[in-house]
Amino acid sequence: MIIELSHVTRKFPTRNATVTALSDVNFKLEAGTMACLSGPSGSGKSTLLFTLGGMLRPDSGTVRVLEQDLYGLSKSERAAFRATQIGFVFQEFHLIPYLTVRENVLLPLGQIKHSARPNFEECEKLLTRLGLAHRMDHKPRQLSAGERQRTAIARATLLKPPVLLADEPTGNLDENSAAEVYQLLTEYRDQGGTVLVVTHTRAAWNYADQVFQIVAGQLQVCSEVPNQSYSH
Ligand SMILES: Nc1ncnc2c1ncn2[C@@H]1O[C@H](COP(=O)(O)OP(=O)(O)O)[C@@H](O)[C@H]1O
Ligand SMILES: [Mg+2]
Repeated sequence: MIIELSHVTRKFPTRNATVTALSDVNFKLEAGTMACLSGPSGSGKSTLLFTLGGMLRPDSGTVRVLEQDLYGLSKSERAAFRATQIGFVFQEFHLIPYLTVRENVLLPLGQIKHSARPNFEECEKLLTRLGLAHRMDHKPRQLSAGERQRTAIARATLLKPPVLLADEPTGNLDENSAAEVYQLLTEYRDQGGTVLVVTHTRAAWNYADQVFQIVAGQLQVCSEVPNQSYSH
């Protein structure tokens, strides 16, 4: 099993009350599959993804990625593991505004050992495949929203991590750009990647091998695509 959450609980204490963002969540994903995760705003979707991505320690339970207990690692070991094994795509792209597309995509190279580095040519090939050949030397502000997200996908996949997590990656995109993003995520799965994407887009669910929804911190497997389409 490439991804495995067992009895994961995560609470956020606030001034008046404690919010239980994840409540005893159990979740497994096999290698080479794509899963979609849906649910109302505030139901715990981002908390689940950040926990899986090694960015948020659960209060209890275990998180295994590629059989590795993520939170059993030291902070620096976990950072090194994440750098090569887990790609992350955010709704707001999180590109560095003063770097070019090429420089943004090359950023992960700074986090890994020299021997494992892909070369610049591979970066350019990837950008060309994602339709960004003419954008390599542009700054993010010069790009459309769809091009920004494709740049972010290039950055997340440059090192070919086995696991790719995407948190509402098309929340800021028009329908056509969103379709391109789902095409790319599906291709990543078809090449052997494991993809987990938080999305409300019904079209994406058709590509998915599995659909989950989370309601008030509780995860449910949907045997069929959910009827209800949640808005943001
Ligand atoms: N850093 C935080 N501090 C306090 N509460 C948080 C924090 N992060 C998330 N929460 C709360 O946890 C719940 C789940 O949040 P989140 O996982 O972001 O939901 P979703 O992504 O499904 O909209 C919400 O009630 C949210 O307000
Ligand atoms: Mg969220």
